[in-house]
Amino acid sequence: MDSFVRDLYSLPIGAEFSGYFFVENVEIRKHRTGEPFLRLILSDRTGTFTALWWKPPKDADLTQFQKGDVVYVSGHVEYFQGSLQPKLKEIRKAEPGEYSSDKFVSVSRYSIDEQFTELLELIESVKNPYLKKLLELFFYDDDFVELFLKTPAGKTIHHACIGGLLEHTLSVCEICETVARRFKSIDRDLLIAAAILHDIGKVHEYRVGTSIEITTEGMLLGHLYMSCEMVAEKIAQVEGFPRELKVKLLHCILSHHGKYEHGSPKMPKTLEAVALAYADALDSRVKGFEEFIERELGAGKGWTRRHFAFEVPIYFDGEFNYGE
Ligand SMILES: [Fe+2]
Ligand SMILES: [Fe+2]
Repeated sequence: MDSFVRDLYSLPIGAEFSGYFFVENVEIRKHRTGEPFLRLILSDRTGTFTALWWKPPKDADLTQFQKGDVVYVSGHVEYFQGSLQPKLKEIRKAEPGEYSSDKFVSVSRYSIDEQFTELLELIESVKNPYLKKLLELFFYDDDFVELFLKTPAGKTIHHACIGGLLEHTLSVCEICETVARRFKSIDRDLLIAAAILHDIGKVHEYRVGTSIEITTEGMLLGHLYMSCEMVAEKIAQVEGFPRELKVKLLHCILSHHGKYEHGSPKMPKTLEAVALAYADALDSRVKGFEEFIERELGAGKGWTRRHFAFEVPIYFDGEFNYGE
């Protein structure tokens, strides 16, 4: 049994539970008798609670548990002064690989399989043979796909979840498709290829463990450069890929943050690049709002606190809907 924190709140007093939890804090304390016990703050993606290892065996090494560890615990539900405070029967450090990251990091609300099928259909719809071949080199590669499907699109601001990059990529593609239908001068295949590839560097920019971390490579290079490097490498494998097309595609990727102060070394200077930059901003901003509302209000309604990056509080009195 691997209970979520959320589930513990609905269990009756005395009910047994077990599961993997992240150690937010740990302290060794003493009973009046002088015997030591452990007080832990444990969490997963659904919440936090305090737990006590009230009667550790005499020979137990209480110093082995550290902040930042993942532990496996079992115990029973108890409350102290109205707060959940289970007593633990057993606690041990968990081995990496024993638990899955989705216990700690949330997962895209939309089906990963269905979204990936849609992405493959989009690739199928690209007529330009060079762009199509390029996309296939990425998305027909199982190792790359496995990584891509797990990658978040952000650490905190938007799509900070497993599968977030896929969700964001698809959403940006849908917006671009609409824009290309309206503005016929846009090279639709170039725009769609750029939308699919614009953030692929994130597969090496983020690492998902018990939280979403930025890698050293991500910190030092950033995903705009990393995406360009990955795309340029694959273009080199496509025979006859036109130089001009390569330049236009890389320009879209390099300029997709729209402004120098947002990390783009180039401002958008083509129709496709400007469409992509706005599509990217539109999707990430709306999704960022939605995620923040959900984090702040849960099932409630009204005003959130001021958003740390958008610098405004956000109002919501509707119902969340992640349906079709
Ligand atoms: Fe980006
Ligand atoms: Fe993006």
